[in-house]
Formats: sequence, structure tokens, C-alpha cells
Amino acid sequence: MLQKQNLNTPYFMINEQALVNNLEKAKQLKEISGAKLVLALKCFSTWGTFDTIKPYLDGTTSSGPYEVRLGHEKFGGETHAYSVGYSHADIEAVKPLSDKIIFNSLSQLNAHYDNCKDSASLGLRINPEMSVAGQDLANPARPYSRLGVKQTLLESTVLDKVDGFMFHMNCENKDVDAFINILNHISTTFAEYLNKLSWLSLGGGIFFTYPDYPIEKLGEALKAFAAKHQIQIYLEPGEAIITRTADLVVSVIDIVENDKKTAIVDSATEAHRLDTLIYNEPASVKEANEGAEHNYIIGSCSCLAGDQFCETQFDKPLEIGQKLHLVDSAGYTMVKLNWFNGLKMPSIYFEKVDGSIEVLNEFGYEDFKATLGK
Ligand SMILES: Cc1ncc(COP(=O)(O)O)c(C=O)c1O
Repeated sequence: MLQKQNLNTPYFMINEQALVNNLEKAKQLKEISGAKLVLALKCFSTWGTFDTIKPYLDGTTSSGPYEVRLGHEKFGGETHAYSVGYSHADIEAVKPLSDKIIFNSLSQLNAHYDNCKDSASLGLRINPEMSVAGQDLANPARPYSRLGVKQTLLESTVLDKVDGFMFHMNCENKDVDAFINILNHISTTFAEYLNKLSWLSLGGGIFFTYPDYPIEKLGEALKAFAAKHQIQIYLEPGEAIITRTADLVVSVIDIVENDKKTAIVDSATEAHRLDTLIYNEPASVKEANEGAEHNYIIGSCSCLAGDQFCETQFDKPLEIGQKLHLVDSAGYTMVKLNWFNGLKMPSIYFEKVDGSIEVLNEFGYEDFKATLGK
């Protein structure tokens, strides 16, 4: 049996019990609201964990053709296909695998309608021009947004072609009242459509697994909306399902000093935890004790000058060889891994409820080489 202390860093360790804890909240939300939940594969596609997730959710949703195929092959249930832009070849690939195909624009809907209309239930992404997103980069309602059709461009003839709408306008929204506010806006602004559609997806970004989130209030609001418009609601959670379920475990390789001490670890945000860099959101280290005596920048092994995980404090000086756990590392990490600098790719392990550790993948030089040529 694999022992944690014998594993080589860097690696992701996904914790099944933490995943089940989140999934139990998802189950509660489904029971109260009547909504169906499909996992957003863009956030988390580590399919070796899907047997744990499947009993709780209704299927998957996707943002590109390969995610559609993965959802269909490895998860099952309902497969929703969405893409910002489908080519004809993409549509040919996703058509046989999808229960729902959601288009991002009227031009995409019109271009592919004849080809898809008999294969799947079709939908259209709408831009509600309202959102809760901490950063402009992740805000679908930002000026000139290309994501979804605005109300002013809609015509009732669209109802001849689609059975459903998809809205996605939240990013890590922990505020149930802010969400209900958008829900009310959608209900009022799009009532003439909603009353005739059979399904509505409200996207992801609702942080219903955050500690003390009022799940009942959210569930009741969704239930009331569904009853009012006689519509089946879907949610597309990603982060909410896998939040706080995985650590990225790294080792201290070197400690350098230039006015401040930097502990260089055997990983890089740019390659293994990209959103730390993109959104400038520092990682948290399990071993740290904020405000303690020994301050360190946790620096990456990449060549990028500003590539660091965080700056934090420890009770004792760090030592070379010591392992550090970068917590909450499941979402938008493994799906964005890349081989920049030819760094060692983190292995992926799954710590099961019974304490055993399953190897989901380990990578080597041949994998790096294969991404760049045959
Ligand atoms: C259309 C759509 N659905 C679902 C999600 C998942 O969001 P989250 O992981 O924040 O729940 C996203 C994230 O960008 C999205 O764009």
C-alpha cells in the first residue's frame, strides 16, 4: 500500500472524504430545489474520481469537444455540450454524444441548427448583463463580452429552434442574496421566453459549499423560480464541487535571500497552479501560521521572475527537503497543467475514504516529449 511519506513531489492529493462532504451539500441542494446538477469539466476533469461523484450529480457540462467526449465516456448521465465557437467538425464530433447542445450566439445557432436539430435538445447562451465576479477577467457581463446573446438581440422566433437557455454570470459567488437578485432580474427580463422553454441552465460559480452558505435559501429560490416558469433548472457547478478537496504537495528545493527569504519549491504556478498567477490569488500553505516569526516567499521553480505561490509565515525556519501542502488546489489546476520549462509534472493521487491511496496518474520525460512531437 502506498504511504504518503514515500511519494515523490510534486503531486496532487485529492481527498475523497472532502469530496463526499461537498457532494452531500450538492445532494441537499438538489433535493430542496428540484434542480439538476451537471459537473463543469472545465474546472475539474480528473476522471479517476468520477465513480465517487457520479451517484450525486446528473451528468457533465463542457466547454470544448474533448470535454464532451470525456463526460460521455467517463461520467455518463446527461452530457451537455457548450462551446464559445463550434466548427462544423466540432459539431460532427459532439452531436452523437450530447443530450443538449448549447450555442453561444445566434449566428452559431443558425449555422448548425439544421445539422443538430434532430440529435439533441438545443439551447442558447444568454448574457443577462449582470454578474457577480470578483475580477474583470472572469466577468461574463464585462463590456464587449462575447459570451452569450443580449436581450436586445433576441427575437421570439428563437423559440422555434431552442428548448433551453443557459446563463452563466457568477464566479465564486458566496452571497445568496446577490444571486437571488440576478435570478429575479432574469425572471422579469426573460419571462416571455422562460415560460415557453423546457429547461434553463444557470451556469456555475454559485459557492453553495462554502462554510455556512444558506443552501436552503438558495434551494427555495430555485424551486420557486422553476414553479413560476414551469421549467427544469440546471446548475453547472465546478469549483463548488471540488473546493478544498486537494493539496498540491511540493518540496523545498532551495532557500535564497534578497532582502526577503524565498523558499524555492519543485513546482510553478505557471505550470501547475495557473490561476494563482492569472488572477493574482496567493495560495495558502497548510504548514504556515500567518503572523509567525519566519517570513518566506514561496517561490516557484520556473524561470518567470514573478512566479511565486505566496508570501507567508512559519513558526520555525523552513528546511530544504521539507514538504509543503498548497491547499485548495483541485479547481482549474489539473485541467490547466502544462510542461513549461520541462518541469516535472505533478502526479495525481486519490486518498480514499478507507485511507488507501490510489494512483490516478504519474508522468515522466516521455510524456513531456510526446506533447511536442512523435
Ligand atoms: C458556462 C460555465 N458553466 C460553468 C462554469 C463553472 O464555474 P465554477 O467552477 O465557478 O462553478 C463556468 C466557469 O467559467 C462556465 O463558464
